[in-house]
Amino acid sequence: MELVESIETRVSVRSFTEEDVPEKTVNEALRMAILAPSAGNLQSRDFIVVRNALSKKRLAKAAFGQAFVEEAPVVIVVCANLNRIRNYGTRGAQLYCLQDSAAAVEHILLYVVSQGFGSCWVGAFDEREVSKVLSIPDNIRPIALLPIGRPMKEGFHTSRLDASELVHREKW
Ligand SMILES: Cc1cc2nc3c(=O)[nH]c(=O)nc-3n(C[C@H](O)[C@H](O)[C@H](O)COP(=O)(O)O)c2cc1C
Repeated sequence: MELVESIETRVSVRSFTEEDVPEKTVNEALRMAILAPSAGNLQSRDFIVVRNALSKKRLAKAAFGQAFVEEAPVVIVVCANLNRIRNYGTRGAQLYCLQDSAAAVEHILLYVVSQGFGSCWVGAFDEREVSKVLSIPDNIRPIALLPIGRPMKEGFHTSRLDASELVHREKW
């Protein structure tokens, strides 16, 4: 699938078949994530691949009962690494590591679409609970849960604001 087609095809997928996601696909998604840009190329992001059923159940609970987190065969948890960005001070800790993580998330989302899989960027969760479930150390923040699987049904496209409302030229 071409990049533009992936971007246009991608929608949030919140129900999955029982079909597994091959480890090869997960590894390739992670390779794409690692290729994303990052501040100073410090790559202040880490990834946790979760397949364990009990862990996924606990993640779904930490995500305020979003059951599809548990139903996906695999969940990639993208984390911001504050240790790796520490030379950039407050801006690094409050902004760059989140942007580094977000860039990686989007690469994963687009890659899985290109392979016929689906995902959803899950950001609503109790951060402390997710850290507890996955033994995430201090200075590492889970930023997004990405449940990945074969879509159960075709996702639908949500609307977008018109460019005329969003785009400013030369000045705000
Ligand atoms: C930062 C962020 C957090 C999100 N958190 C959740 C979430 O917790 N649960 C969920 O179902 N979708 C979540 N989404 C997905 C959005 O609801 C979705 O991207 C948006 O409605 C547009 O739909 P689309 O992805 O199908 O284009 C999140 C998206 C982003 C970017």
